[in-house]
Amino acid sequence: MCGIVGYIGDEQAAPILLEGLKRLEYRGYDSAGVVVARGGKLTLTKTRGYVENLVAATDGGLRLPGTVGLGHTRWATHGQPTDENAHPHVSDGGKIAVVHNGIIENYAKLREFLRSKGYHFQSETDTEVAVNLIAFFYAESGDLKLAVAQAARRMEGSYALGILCEDCPDTLIATKKEAPLVVAVAEGANFLASDVAAILEYTREVYRLQDDEIAVLTRDKIEFFTGELDPITKSLEHIDWDISAAEKGGYEHFMLKEIAEQPESVRKTVFPRIRYGRVVLDELDISDEYIKSLTHIYLVGCGTAFYVGAAAKYNLEKLARIPTEAIMASEFRYSAPILGATTLVICISQSGTTADTIAAMREAKARGARVLSIVNVVGSVIAEESDWTLYTWAGPEICVASTKAYSTQLALTYLVALRFAEARGALDAAEYDAIVALLQVLPDRMETVLQNREQIQYVSSLFFNREDIFFIGRNIDYAVSLEGSLKLKEISYIHSEAYAAGELKHGPIALIEDGTLVITVAAYNKLIDKTISNAVEVKSRGAIILALTTDNGKAALSGVADEIITIPDTHDVLLPSLAVLPLQLFAYYVALARGREIDKPRNLAKSVTVE
Ligand code: F6R
Repeated sequence: MCGIVGYIGDEQAAPILLEGLKRLEYRGYDSAGVVVARGGKLTLTKTRGYVENLVAATDGGLRLPGTVGLGHTRWATHGQPTDENAHPHVSDGGKIAVVHNGIIENYAKLREFLRSKGYHFQSETDTEVAVNLIAFFYAESGDLKLAVAQAARRMEGSYALGILCEDCPDTLIATKKEAPLVVAVAEGANFLASDVAAILEYTREVYRLQDDEIAVLTRDKIEFFTGELDPITKSLEHIDWDISAAEKGGYEHFMLKEIAEQPESVRKTVFPRIRYGRVVLDELDISDEYIKSLTHIYLVGCGTAFYVGAAAKYNLEKLARIPTEAIMASEFRYSAPILGATTLVICISQSGTTADTIAAMREAKARGARVLSIVNVVGSVIAEESDWTLYTWAGPEICVASTKAYSTQLALTYLVALRFAEARGALDAAEYDAIVALLQVLPDRMETVLQNREQIQYVSSLFFNREDIFFIGRNIDYAVSLEGSLKLKEISYIHSEAYAAGELKHGPIALIEDGTLVITVAAYNKLIDKTISNAVEVKSRGAIILALTTDNGKAALSGVADEIITIPDTHDVLLPSLAVLPLQLFAYYVALARGREIDKPRNLAKSVTVE
C-alpha cells in the first residue's frame, strides 16, 4: 500500500527520494509526490499515476533543489486517486508538509474541530487533517516536536508520519502507530522509510520505530523520544538481505523471478529446522503438554495466506489429529470465535502488517488464546506481538501477487503439523520418517516442476483468451485450486472461481457450457477417481478439461482430459507445494499473453494495512 521515504543529508534530496519511491512501487499505489525544503521554503510536486510521471514532471528530481525532503506513494483510501489527494499534504498556509501511511479513524471529528478554528481543507484526505492538527499545536507553541506529540495523542487509527516544516528546514520528524516506519543511518545522511527496500541502496543500519515513539532527524544526528517526549536510546539493527533480492536479475517480471526462487526459499525455510531426521523448531518455546492440551486450532490470514491455511487445515487434522479450521482474518475478527487456553490461533502473513490479520491476532489474545505466527517480514507487528513466531526465509517478495511467500508458509505448516503430531503421538514413526525424507527432496521436486515452464506456457497460449475459468479439486487439491484461481484473477483479470469438485452439481455446474475451461486439480491420490468423475460430468456438458495430476495419476486422466500437466509423486501431505507451481506459471503466462501489468495488478496493494 502507501510508501514513505525521507532524506536529510548533503546531496540533492529529490533524485534520491524518487529512487526510493521506485523501490516502493511494488507495494501498489495510484499517485505519488515529493516535497523538499530549501531556504525556508517548501516545494511540492505530486501527480496521479506512477512515479514515472513524477520523474518526468521534475526532470528526475533535478528541478527540485534542496537537501531535505519527503516522498510518498499513495494507495487511495479517503478520496479518489487524484493530484489533489496525493501526498505530501501541507497545512493551511503551507508551513508544514506531511506524508502519511494508514488511516486516521477520527478524522471527521478532528476536521470539524479544525474548521471551527479557521482551518481550510483542499483535499478529501484524512492526512490533511493530520497536518493541520500538527499546525494547530505548532501555532500554539512554536515547537514542532511537541506539536507532533500533541497531535499524535489526538489521532485514533493507524499512522506512520514523516513531517517537514519550513521554519526548521534542517529537521525531519517521524512518528508512528500501527504502521511500520524505520529510521536509518547512512554516510553523511539520515533516512526514514516505511519499508527498508526504499533505502537499502544507501544503508543497512536501521532503527525500528515503535508505536508512539518520535524520531527527530538532522543531517548528523537522530534523536528518539517517547510519546511523552522523554529521550530514549534505541538499538541499531543490521539488515542483511541482499539488494539484488529486490531487483529483477534478468527476469522479465518479479513474479517470474519469485516463482523461480521458490525451491531455494523452501530449502532455506525448511532445512535448518530438520535435524537428524526430526523437525526441530527452536524458535518455539512450546511444551509437549501444551500441544497435547490443544482442543482446537484456527488458521487465520487473508488472500493467499488464508489459502495456505486452507491447505494446512487438512494436514493438521490428518497428521496431528487436532480439530482445525481455516478462517479469513476479516471474518474471524467479528465472528465471536470460541477461544481459550486450549485453542491455538496460527496467524499467517507475508508482510506481518495486514490490518485484518493484526486485528484477528489481538482478538485471539484478548480472548485467552495463544498465537503462533508464520511471517516473512522480520520485526513486523504480527511477528512482534505473537506468542511464538516462525519466520519464512523467503526474502523480500516484490510482486504484488504472492508466490514464494505461499510456498514457504506452506512448508512451515508441514513442520508445525509434524511437530504437533509427534508431541501428541498421533503419527506412526514410519510415516513421520517418510514425510521428513520427502520434505528434504521437496525443493528438488519443485525444481523439476519449474523446468516444465515451456509446456505450461504452451497450454496457457491455448486458453489465454477465455473470459471465465473454473478450478475444481477435492480435499488438499481444492485448497490449491483456490490459490490457483486467485492468482489467475489477480494478474490476468479473467473471471475465475474455484469449487470443491463434489459441490459442483449442487449449483455451479449450471455455469458450464460449450468450451468452458475447467482446470481439474487431481493430485491427491485417494480421491483422484472421485475428481475424475466430476471432470466427466462437466466434460459431458461441453467443458474443456485441463488436468493437473501426478505422474501416477496421468494414466487415469488421459481418457478425460484435453490437456494434462503432471507433477512428480510425493507424500499426499506435501502435494500442494508441487501442485501450486504450474498454476502460478499458468496465471503468469496467461497474464503475459494478455499484456497485463503483472507485478503491479490494478487496484491491488502488496500490504493491506487498512481494514
Ligand atoms: C495474493 C496476495 C494477497 C495477500 C494478502 C495477505 O497474491 O498477495 O492475497 O496474500 O493480502 O497479505 P499478507 O500475507 O502480507 O498478510
